[in-house]
Amino acid sequence: MRDSNFLREQNARHIWHPMAHPAEMQANPPKIITGGKGTRVSDVDGREVLDAVGGLWNVNLGYSADPVKKAIAAQLDQLPYYSAFRGTSTAPAIELAHELADWFAPEGMVRSFFTSGGSDSVETALRLARQFWKVKGQGEKTKFMALKKGYHGTHFGGASANGNANFRRNYEPLMPGFYHMPAPYTYRNPFNETDPARLAQLIIQSFEDEIAFQGADTIAAIIMEPVLGAGGVIVPHESFMPKLRALCDRHDILLIADEVVTGFGRTGSWSGSRLWGVKPDMMCIAKAITSGYFPLGATLIGERIAEAFEADKTTFGAIGHGYTYSAHPVGCAAALAALSETRRLNVADNAGARGLELQAGLKALKEKHEIVGDVRGIGLMAAIELVSDRAAKKPADKKVMGKVSEEAYGAGVMIRVSGPNIILSPPLIFTAAEVEETLAALDKALAAA
Ligand SMILES: Cc1ncc(COP(=O)(O)O)c(C=O)c1O
Repeated sequence: MRDSNFLREQNARHIWHPMAHPAEMQANPPKIITGGKGTRVSDVDGREVLDAVGGLWNVNLGYSADPVKKAIAAQLDQLPYYSAFRGTSTAPAIELAHELADWFAPEGMVRSFFTSGGSDSVETALRLARQFWKVKGQGEKTKFMALKKGYHGTHFGGASANGNANFRRNYEPLMPGFYHMPAPYTYRNPFNETDPARLAQLIIQSFEDEIAFQGADTIAAIIMEPVLGAGGVIVPHESFMPKLRALCDRHDILLIADEVVTGFGRTGSWSGSRLWGVKPDMMCIAKAITSGYFPLGATLIGERIAEAFEADKTTFGAIGHGYTYSAHPVGCAAALAALSETRRLNVADNAGARGLELQAGLKALKEKHEIVGDVRGIGLMAAIELVSDRAAKKPADKKVMGKVSEEAYGAGVMIRVSGPNIILSPPLIFTAAEVEETLAALDKALAAA
């Protein structure tokens, strides 16, 4: 590896980073991560920190899952690539689809369409939703509804579903026909409603109003995250997703659960849909499917959609969509090993238990630090929303957020900041001592800020 000065200079010269201003990246160079062991990563200066971000919500097994590394090496040796386009398939893809149907997906959701990541999985779901209605002879059902604050990746379909202006404005015009309803965000919402159950009902009513206005016969699907992640870890009331499911059933609208973050145990349940007891029509998964060791995603397809496509007598059922790296055999082999470890270690239960400790600690930090406006989370996903004025709920500025992040890193813990939120999404193998370590670093960082 070249020396740190070379890497820093060349990074500034040659790399544009996702979700960053190129000029800012030159003024504030990123940490260059060179190693990972267990739940810790080390940087080019030899500093080791606890990774409370879990890569990017995905490294659920930490950095030392040897069975996954071995499975990747073995598959590279056996067959490094073959395509899943019409005419060919591979053993790892078939085994993975079987595995997902066997224990992860809701009952009857036994078809997988593999992709290369979360944005691809969302794009696939949106396209298949429109195609489904064409197959059914209701091709006028083309519109989508989503939540403000929702995040669905960066392809044009997903970006059009996104509910955060930062991911939209610079790329407009986005796709027409997307409508956004308020998020189940008790800390800030247009109804000034602080009761989560009442807020859930008000939002369902907003959906009802918009559906009546647009016409249910024009709406293909509602897409939502069971727990909103990137938008600031917004945990809805337990009634919210079941009510949304009932609303979809009343109006014959598909429900797409974007489980790119919530899939595979992060909330303390194997999926967000399972957590809320809901069966969506499609599920988008990615990230932790390989624990981040290889890019892979999938869209899982419920039987209603599958049966319509498979019984199709029109010309609409043929899928004109897919990626060169759909069902990449190395990715599928990585996923098979990662999911086997995920189940063996029962990381969902650990996420649930550690999550309770984390939430209790975050509440104590809120009591202690005036700068903390709100704390939220479930399992091992959490947000701390910072404010410069608690009474006015004025969001903390970029400078404060940058300072908190640097101070936490200095105290030995990697955190992520997004807008006024500190986001925590550590590996699901986190221990109670590591939760304590994270809280202690946050305590120092908040005091400094
Ligand atoms: C809920 C959700 N959907 C989709 C995506 C996009 O996934 P990817 O970045 O793998 O394309 C993300 C990424 O964070 C996500 O959180």
